[in-house]
Amino acid sequence: MARKKIALIGAGNIGGTLAHLAASKELGDVVLFDVVEGVPQGKALDLSQCAPVEGFDVALKGTNDYADIAGADVIIVTAGIARKPGMSRDDLLGINLKVMKAVGEGIKANAPDAFVICITNPLDAMVWALREFSGLPHNKVVGMAGVLDSARFRSFLAEEFKVSVQDVTAFVLGGHGDTMVPVVEYSTVAGIPIPDLIKMGWSTQERIDEIVKRTRGGGGEIVALLKTGSAFYAPATAGIEMAEAYLKDKKRVLPCAAYLSGEYGVNDLYVGVPVIIGAGGVEKVIEIALNDEAKANLAVSVDAVKELLVACKGIDESLA
Ligand code: APR
Repeated sequence: MARKKIALIGAGNIGGTLAHLAASKELGDVVLFDVVEGVPQGKALDLSQCAPVEGFDVALKGTNDYADIAGADVIIVTAGIARKPGMSRDDLLGINLKVMKAVGEGIKANAPDAFVICITNPLDAMVWALREFSGLPHNKVVGMAGVLDSARFRSFLAEEFKVSVQDVTAFVLGGHGDTMVPVVEYSTVAGIPIPDLIKMGWSTQERIDEIVKRTRGGGGEIVALLKTGSAFYAPATAGIEMAEAYLKDKKRVLPCAAYLSGEYGVNDLYVGVPVIIGAGGVEKVIEIALNDEAKANLAVSVDAVKELLVACKGIDESLA
């Protein structure tokens, strides 16, 4: 059986890390695309020289030509600019919207059958715009945010409870940004919900509130430390988990920015919700009953995403 093909649009920090992970896991042959000449070629060459040591048999190619993404099974998009200290994800909108247009057209012309995962920020708006520009079916275009946000939440919770991260599950809804909604009732240690753990004396409401706040600002905390860019190891890991779910038809239940047409009372918008990812792409949006607080928080998050779409439509008339 021929190997799968993974195309990475954007060969920066996340793109390079994605390429390394995809190759190490032998998910398929990797094509790294970037507008900057030399960078994708150099990274592909460097990474291909890991192969004898790590023992992976996949081909890596760097390119500046969209024709090379033809036949890709999965495309992961990180093209655009990243945050610097003092910037919000929304500050990236104008520049990255133009990038999404070029990328969407490149995908439409060369790899319209791919499963596309968008990582470029501001995520919920960029994934929506990328879908519009590419014209792909909604279930084949998805945004990576919830896997990362819940990974951040899980790592902080595991630290708090002094248990393995493997035993902590977390549930995060809403937009990727300060309005994201970590749902504490559905977050557990080995199935025991956090409110029960508080009653058991494992933590306090105040501590959990602090962790929720830290999760919401998790990306900004890293930007402030790095000073020259934003997080890339965990975003890449999260993107790969979604790609693997599709390529291996795993039917993973993952929080992703998915297109909603009526679910949670939301229409024509990409928002973070739990979905099933398998060979059909986003095979199902899981709609759960939310308590009043989560509902209200989700509404705030949805409004923030809507505002960004209004801004996108103002910048590019073809989206209106
Ligand atoms: N087409 C392809 N690649 C592009 C384009 C374009 N039109 N415009 C810019 N790029 C490339 C840049 O040349 C750069 O190599 O995108 C890459 C982005 O890499 P980094 O600046 O290292 O950013 P990274 O940390 O990888 O983050 C990428 O993901 O999480 C988000 O907020 C983050 O929007 C940012 C994106």
